[in-house]
Amino acid sequence: VTVYADQAEASKAVARRIAELIRNKQAQGAKTVLGLATGATPVGVYSELARLHREEGLSFRDVITFNLDEYYPMRPEAPQSYVRFMDENLFNHIDIDKANVNIPDGTLALEEIPAFCLAYEKKIEELGGLDLQVLGIGRTGHIGFNEPGSAPNSGTRLVTLDDLTRRDASRDFGGKENVPTKAITMGIGTIFKAREIVLMAWNGKKASIVRKAVEGEISGEVPATYLQLSDNVEFVLDQDAASGL
Ligand code: GLP
Repeated sequence: VTVYADQAEASKAVARRIAELIRNKQAQGAKTVLGLATGATPVGVYSELARLHREEGLSFRDVITFNLDEYYPMRPEAPQSYVRFMDENLFNHIDIDKANVNIPDGTLALEEIPAFCLAYEKKIEELGGLDLQVLGIGRTGHIGFNEPGSAPNSGTRLVTLDDLTRRDASRDFGGKENVPTKAITMGIGTIFKAREIVLMAWNGKKASIVRKAVEGEISGEVPATYLQLSDNVEFVLDQDAASGL
């Protein structure tokens, strides 16, 4: 666990770490495979990465990204889509090749989802796995959209969203009744295979779930507690999110 004075400082540190990974890989002539998250939490990291691109020439030409999740159903052009979120917060501001961007497809027919999910996993594997996975945490203890009850070895799949998650998303959708009931998410098992995992959390609203995730009993009731079983996880917190530890 690393606690920073504030969210801005923490976000800069995570962005620098990602930039260093990309540059080290580039020096070896290798590609960087990043797992990315949405939500308010990583926005500062993405804006710092965009600044590093703009002002320090950090290039994303050799970067391949996999997003954790997407609502289902969801059109990419909808204001709440994670495709749109990633474009607005990161991809439109860097030199990434859009062919290297992967986000679960919210437009599939139900019967197409299992094959899509298997292919998503396979693509990550064939690229040598995720070098680094960025995570936020939901108030249910979800990572990605792995809600309570998710299995530690779960893969990419269609899931049902928790009521609290839909309530937390209701502002974006103009009411909870408009929030999709389902999502496609990488699994806990998918996330676990990443060589480095960085979970970020800011502000007092996350203090209680962060305490459970870091110090609580390992249980499917709080999926983020599974991260305690990995040696490659860092919790990056601001003082308020760490206040319960
Ligand atoms: C959504 C995302 C998660 C994210 C969580 C927390 O549910 N699917 O990946 O971690 O929200 O969101 P926020 O960062 O806005 O608190």
